[in-house]
Amino acid sequence: MSSNQRPAGQAPATAPAPAMAPAADPAPEPGPVAGAAALVRMQGVTKSFGSFTAVESVDLDLRAGEFFSLLGPSGCGKSTLLRMIAGFEEPTRGTIAIDGRPMAEVAPNRRPTNMVFQSYAIFPHLNVADNIAFGLRSPGQSLSRTEIAARVDEMLATVGLGGLGQRGANELSGGQRQRVALARALILRPKVLLLDEPLSALDKKLREQMQIELRRLQRQVGITFLMVTHDQYEAMTISDRCGVMFGGRLAQVASPKELYQRPVTRQVAEFIGGINFLSGRVSARDAESASVEVKGFGTVTMPTEPAIPAAGGQITLGLRPERFYLAPERPAETEVAAAATVEDFAFYGETIHYYLRLDGYDAPVIAAVTNFQRAAHFAPGDRLFAGFRGRALVALP
Ligand SMILES: Nc1ncnc2c1ncn2[C@@H]1O[C@H](COP(=O)(O)OP(=O)(O)OP(=O)(O)O)[C@@H](O)[C@H]1O
Ligand SMILES: [Mg+2]
Repeated sequence: MSSNQRPAGQAPATAPAPAMAPAADPAPEPGPVAGAAALVRMQGVTKSFGSFTAVESVDLDLRAGEFFSLLGPSGCGKSTLLRMIAGFEEPTRGTIAIDGRPMAEVAPNRRPTNMVFQSYAIFPHLNVADNIAFGLRSPGQSLSRTEIAARVDEMLATVGLGGLGQRGANELSGGQRQRVALARALILRPKVLLLDEPLSALDKKLREQMQIELRRLQRQVGITFLMVTHDQYEAMTISDRCGVMFGGRLAQVASPKELYQRPVTRQVAEFIGGINFLSGRVSARDAESASVEVKGFGTVTMPTEPAIPAAGGQITLGLRPERFYLAPERPAETEVAAAATVEDFAFYGETIHYYLRLDGYDAPVIAAVTNFQRAAHFAPGDRLFAGFRGRALVALP
């Protein structure tokens, strides 16, 4: 089979076989280096299809050795951005540079990138070893048979497929096939590995296992990974940093923890896990702290944030469900508490979600309680108190 053939119907129609990266660049030290020069620099990157703008003015730096996830709802432009980095699409405006080198005139197969697709795109009629060696046998590479065999063996071990080199591609499980696709891309030693929903074809259990594997693999090889996913839990468990996109724009770039605890907009807050929105009025504010009257609860003190207006201003506050304290009596440990009735609950094993109706407050709220040994359990119709501390609140614009 010649090197420009690829399995029919596997890779997306516009995507060529994995781009061939120049071989033998020494791997950088593993782990992201904060403040280090950007490995990938996107400036004002915009992509329009006719009058429709799929990606709009994206400025983003990826650091050497980091695991970065792009997150967002379907159609928000994640794949389009990835495809521009790979060179399968040209930006309408803006620039992309990798390692300081502008990519505008660089063909996909000349870029130091490689892409792994959701559909794996492995050759069904080749065995595992030949699938992995595929890119090394292209005309641009000049490796001996022994060198290729050694690189393939090393890669088989790296992705946990040791001893399976002779296995037919059709005799593999979904997880094993995904490992072959990863090995095939990594053997070319790209500087950046682009992964478009790489785990979405796997069932939940296998997917969770592969998330850990992917993270381990990324640390081991020390290559920058840019993964697209619409699963916020996947992005948060795997990544050093995440970027959240809506309607073609990057809404926030932050560590998973910061994204969860300090979302910058209501939209990001809602996309990353469950959240209650409460309304409040600022009664006092200085450089350190603010007093806020929270509707239905009372006055709390919270750390001052840029989104908190001056005294007298109205504010929307985010409160994660697990930051509620629930107790049959008014809880002593929280600054405020409101009497409430349990409307319903959902049992998730490790946590229980209670749907509450607060006295004198029209919107329902959700409280999540860890199902630890002596946790109080409530039933629909029960009366209780729901309280929280001011520092659990996030001010949202
Ligand atoms: N070649 C194209 N021509 C016209 N519109 C396109 C083209 N490619 C993508 N789009 C549109 O651009 C938008 C972004 O598409 P994209 O594939 O980047 O979304 P996505 O975030 O990857 O979504 P998903 O999670 O569903 O994969 C969509 O509205 C899509 O229909
Ligand atoms: Mg996509």
